[in-house]
Amino acid sequence: MKILLLNGSMRGNSSSSLKVAEAFVRGIVSEDKNAEVIKVNLRDKNIEHCYGCFCCWKINKGQCIIRDDMDEIRKLVLESDVIIESFPLYFFGLPSKMKAFMDRMINFVSEYRAVNGDEATGRFLHDMRYPELLKKKLVLVSACGYEETVDCYDSVINQFDKICGHDNYTRIFVPQGGMLAEETFENKVARYLVKFEEAGKEFVRNGKLSEETETKLQIPMLGHNTFSRAINMNWDEPGVGPYGKVVK
Ligand SMILES: Cc1cc2nc3c(=O)[nH]c(=O)nc-3n(C[C@H](O)[C@H](O)[C@H](O)COP(=O)(O)O)c2cc1C
Repeated sequence: MKILLLNGSMRGNSSSSLKVAEAFVRGIVSEDKNAEVIKVNLRDKNIEHCYGCFCCWKINKGQCIIRDDMDEIRKLVLESDVIIESFPLYFFGLPSKMKAFMDRMINFVSEYRAVNGDEATGRFLHDMRYPELLKKKLVLVSACGYEETVDCYDSVINQFDKICGHDNYTRIFVPQGGMLAEETFENKVARYLVKFEEAGKEFVRNGKLSEETETKLQIPMLGHNTFSRAINMNWDEPGVGPYGKVVK
């Protein structure tokens, strides 16, 4: 199994979402000894925004006219069996670097043509340009800052349900993301991450996660009192907590 782990956090290797994604990947690798993993930090890549020119649909059939690091990333996508998109939740949606990557993948789907009734079914209105894309598995891994994930991921789920169909991708959404980067909680975090490793094993065995597992993975690491004390101290005490530091 070839796994492409795309890290869409501007916090690079310090990303909390990445911590979770890497735990999930550890689980995959422990279950599938032939698994190969390639990690790409999108923040280090030159990814131009989609020009919206539709040359890839009308002129160059499947080829984007922009030459940048997306050439290399698209090739990695085509060579992978599992694509993991790891990203923080920003304003209840995708952060711009990950969104720029996604927009630049439009050349992988065929042009939109109006067919009566398609809109009513709510299904995605594009065929895949390369049939092998349908065999690939997509996993979303994301941390958000709030105490719980309740309602936070509605827009993301709605978006990917439209693109892939609800049953065709895997969701790993984690609350209290900032706390995963808090040094005081190092041991707690290590214990918390075990369930994501287990999820990686389940993913190899079943090719997906059950709804039950997806729900369990959203259980917060800290109880309310500890979380509120920690997050408030982070804002109020200089030098305390993970926020207020630029991650290079
Ligand atoms: C611009 C911006 C917007 C954010 N929007 C949300 C949000 O809508 N909901 C939320 O729960 N957290 C939000 N957060 C917090 C991040 O999701 C959180 O800090 C996350 O753990 C960062 O993950 P990372 O370390 O993988 O980058 C936002 C943070 C930033 C910087």
